[in-house]
Amino acid sequence: MIASNLIGYLLGSISFSYLVGKYWAGIDIRNFGSGNAGATNTLRVLGVGPGIIVFIFDGLKGVMSVLIAEFISSGDPLVMIVAGISSIVGHNWPIYLKFKGGKGVATTIGVVASLVFWPALYSALIASILLVTTRYVSLASIVFSILIPIFVIFLGYSLSYIIFTILIAILVCLRHKENIKRLLKGTERKFGEKSR
Ligand code: G3P
Repeated sequence: MIASNLIGYLLGSISFSYLVGKYWAGIDIRNFGSGNAGATNTLRVLGVGPGIIVFIFDGLKGVMSVLIAEFISSGDPLVMIVAGISSIVGHNWPIYLKFKGGKGVATTIGVVASLVFWPALYSALIASILLVTTRYVSLASIVFSILIPIFVIFLGYSLSYIIFTILIAILVCLRHKENIKRLLKGTERKFGEKSR
């Protein structure tokens, strides 16, 4: 448990938005746009290509964390869940970047797609419709995270998956505190908008 936990955290701590910002454009992504070290802000600041690359790799580190835990523990669901959460925690509070990371959405997608595939897919479909209609990535991310435990309960998953997905929703909502304030004030940036 401790090994896969640590591996998950250290993998999650690799901030691809920071690396792409630094080596692609010579900037610290955390000083631009929303200041978030994530795929959305990379897309906003550096364009679609870098944004997609960050999204894929931030997602993959979540998948990898779960898969490594599965390998180490011979498929113990609890070990896989804890490793998944650790990678999200690593993304949000990365050891390599003085604990100033992102909001964990792409990594969360990778983790939940690996652990609770159908709830993740249904939630992603609804969140995508919301994203297309409102163009608020933050709103779609928040709704996505809240829908997952609802589908997990509805589809009859065990208590550990219910607690795990509720925790994830809490993490995503807490990390979007500033976005929620901006959404309420009507000042949140829409997808495709450079700045505001
Ligand atoms: O994935 C993070 C997204 O939900 C919001 O990002 O940069 O608009 O705060 P940002």
